[in-house]
Amino acid sequence: MHTAIGDMLERVLADRLTRAGVVDAVFARELGERVARFTREGGKRLRSQLVWWSMRACGGDDGATAAVALRVGAALELLQSCALVHDDVMDGATVRRGRPALHADVRELYSSAASPDRAARFGEAAAILAGDLALAWADDVVAETALDPGTAASVRRLWSDMRTEMVAGQFLDLRGQLTGTRSQLEALRAAHLKSALYSVERPLVLGAVVAHADGSTIRALSSTGRCVGMAFQLRDDLDDLFGDPLHTGKSCGGDIREGKPTYLAALAMARAEATGDRPALAVLERALGDANLTAAGLDEVRQVLVRTGARQAVETKIAHLAAEGLRHFDGAAFAAGAKGRLRGLLSAATVPRDLDGPPARPHPAPPAAPVGFATPKETRQ
Ligand code: IPE
Ligand code: IPE
Ligand code: MG
Ligand code: MG
Ligand code: MG
Repeated sequence: MHTAIGDMLERVLADRLTRAGVVDAVFARELGERVARFTREGGKRLRSQLVWWSMRACGGDDGATAAVALRVGAALELLQSCALVHDDVMDGATVRRGRPALHADVRELYSSAASPDRAARFGEAAAILAGDLALAWADDVVAETALDPGTAASVRRLWSDMRTEMVAGQFLDLRGQLTGTRSQLEALRAAHLKSALYSVERPLVLGAVVAHADGSTIRALSSTGRCVGMAFQLRDDLDDLFGDPLHTGKSCGGDIREGKPTYLAALAMARAEATGDRPALAVLERALGDANLTAAGLDEVRQVLVRTGARQAVETKIAHLAAEGLRHFDGAAFAAGAKGRLRGLLSAATVPRDLDGPPARPHPAPPAAPVGFATPKETRQ
């Protein structure tokens, strides 16, 4: 790992693993190492990059500020590990970042030692603990970051709110799945809480707070993140059906097979109802929540999403949200070079994964930067 974010993560993980090894060697090898590997190999590193470039765009230009941004970024990647490892258990997903999900990996490890059922249960139990461990490590990193009195209260409050929001969103997502809600508003509410906030809005604001940005800049970034974050999750929902698993690193159709209460599904149902397209409604009703849906069945769903115009309507909503987010962004004053990098990152977060870079693994390089932090000071526009 030759990047600043990677280097910081490496330092944090090495420290935690050493301490885990002192606690118990088997635990460290089978659980701690898995959390470390999952986090180290990472995904797009969207959240840590947003913290970093937001901090730079807001004029953060000294080594101490950079170090805080890197630590908060590392903590966010650990929080992401917790979110994803738990999410894959809850969503019954077996592929993540182009590899077996953590629970599936542990199940495999114990497949010859126990019956399939017991190995699967153990895999899920281990993944619950792995997610807990990742969250504990994330919290430790934030708690052990030296913050000046001007930012400490805000950073800690943001961190705390963000964790709760994500859990709330995940709960609403699962609850909507159970109740079979087809409410567009509920879908957008869950997407906002489970994803938009911790993926985009909060990372942007954390970077700004670390750099001591003023209130109006923070508000502009918050509005930017709110829109772009929602577009990011709507893109993720579209990618579940129309994305290339090679680029998403996830299997196709999980949301349909699980009966996820996505905005895309809610919109398709509403449109089919409004136009009296009974065959489309029948396809959706049959497919949503059908764990055994075949590839052909999934194709039918895709056709319905296209035919009802739901796919295009979500594309249009993403485009509007992205444009609205960038309007908020463009209205604020930022350091010139970093502004372009941050803008590029925000735009990339809303486009289809296969247009957005190389395959899910290896992930695109995070920003090169500051051990030593000798880059020239950027000018404010
Ligand atoms: C996946 O997040 C979970 C969502 C909130 C949609 P990412 O798409 O950022 O996943 P990684 O970190 O790049 O793997
Ligand atoms: C995940 O939403 C949100 C969190 C992990 C908190 P999804 O369930 O849509 O994410 P993916 O598609 O599995 O990455
Ligand atoms: Mg999921
Ligand atoms: Mg989920
Ligand atoms: Mg998804």
